[in-house]
Amino acid sequence: MTSVFPDHGRAPRELDDIVAEWQTGDIDWKGGRAFSLVYNSADPVLEELQHDVAGRFLHENALNPFVYPSLLRMEQEVVAVAAELFGTDPQAGTMTSGGTESIFLALYTAREEARARGVARPRLVLASTAHPAFTKAAHYLGVAEIRVPVGPTCEPMSRRWRSRSTTAPPSSSVRHRATRTA
Ligand SMILES: Cc1ncc(COP(=O)(O)O)c(C=O)c1O
Repeated sequence: MTSVFPDHGRAPRELDDIVAEWQTGDIDWKGGRAFSLVYNSADPVLEELQHDVAGRFLHENALNPFVYPSLLRMEQEVVAVAAELFGTDPQAGTMTSGGTESIFLALYTAREEARARGVARPRLVLASTAHPAFTKAAHYLGVAEIRVPVGPTCEPMSRRWRSRSTTAPPSSSVRHRATRTA
């Protein structure tokens, strides 16, 4: 049986060349060829700062905020900024590492809040274009999902679910894809 492990180690320069070669097949996001995925400011000073900060924290681990208070501070600042945008408690939040986890936690919070209001079987109302991660979270959390069709400009076509007390907050990812799923 052949092994995926190489027989010999490689020099750093050689490895760098290899990954650079792999990268030639990737999308040219700096040239404006990427739709979503990369949100580049096209500001070279900001980009250099991003590289610098990312490099500085490459090996730190937010798992233990007592050992890395710098990471805790960053998280708290990001949460406070988001909270201010949403007009809520500056400490009401946490940072997650991806969309699926964020959606899962948001739906969990909404479900628990609904249960506390006496809603035994909350429902999640979504635009038909909302990311499939909502379906996944609803499935795991036992929340019924209702997909509402969207119109030509991606606005949800039905407003009738908005005021229902048994519904969890509607998804906000209405416009996240150019091609709609329904
Ligand atoms: C709006 C939206 N929600 C959720 C996700 C899922 O995110 P992740 O792959 O980080 O779990 C994505 C990913 O593209 C997304 O665009």
